[in-house]
Amino acid sequence: MLVLETAAKMQAFSKAQRADGKTIGFVPTMGYLHEGHLALMRKARELADVVVLSIFVNPTQFGKNEDLDKYPRDFDRDSKLADSVGVDVIFFPKPEEMYPAGYQTSISLANLPTVLCGKSRPVHFGGVATVCCKLFNIVQPHFAVFGKKDYQQFLVVGRMVKDLNMDLEIIGAPTVRESDGLAMSSRNVYLTPAQRAQAPALIEALRRAEKMVAAGHRDRDEILAEVRHIVESRPDARIDYVEMLKLPDLVDAAAQPAGAHLLALAVFFGKTRLIDNTVLEFGLAG
Ligand code: PAF
Repeated sequence: MLVLETAAKMQAFSKAQRADGKTIGFVPTMGYLHEGHLALMRKARELADVVVLSIFVNPTQFGKNEDLDKYPRDFDRDSKLADSVGVDVIFFPKPEEMYPAGYQTSISLANLPTVLCGKSRPVHFGGVATVCCKLFNIVQPHFAVFGKKDYQQFLVVGRMVKDLNMDLEIIGAPTVRESDGLAMSSRNVYLTPAQRAQAPALIEALRRAEKMVAAGHRDRDEILAEVRHIVESRPDARIDYVEMLKLPDLVDAAAQPAGAHLLALAVFFGKTRLIDNTVLEFGLAG
């Protein structure tokens, strides 16, 4: 497994693979890998001849009071895990390689970043889109695999690729969960034992909503109230948002929704903010 630290070396590697007729699968990450990331790498392995993983804690997607400095990092552990699932190259740039002095370009999307997580993290999705655009230009992948736990990110990146005619396919992979259903996240390590014990409330609430829809409920407010009630039954949970938005543009759901909707939630346990979501398929109206 190669570790490349400069954009020039990474681009040269990818150009040579392409010239050889090889396809490139890409998994962008911020490191501190867990089973959820490994599933994305296995998916890339299935799809492509060569698998590239990037590890870069991207400063432009963190707000001023967020956890950039505290974000967990462990390159040695990450590289062993990446090697174990057959990654060929780790692209591991330093911040000054990605954003050298004089850097001034960014990507912005008009609507998708303004809802859900974008309300409390106004700079986040612009930073994600910008770094993904740079990474796609550097790694030159045929496929890039994103986890659907960060569903809004998956939509933002997909929209950018479509709008800017980028020549790659964005693949969404299902959320990987702990045995009690908690979605895997690098931030789960911040939870105290008491908070960790309450955190499966998120998946419990989502499963309840899925069951309600399967049983024929289609009243938006009734479903949202039930989800809130389940989360609020945990003493340390503080809801940031519980929302149902219509896919794929994340516009407000009708009172009686029809078609595919994202039910998404963000919940604080102490200072740790957890997110999770599910796609609810309502029958068509009428
Ligand atoms: O999901 C992440 O880890 C990051 O947002 C990403 C896609 C690697 C961009 O920095």
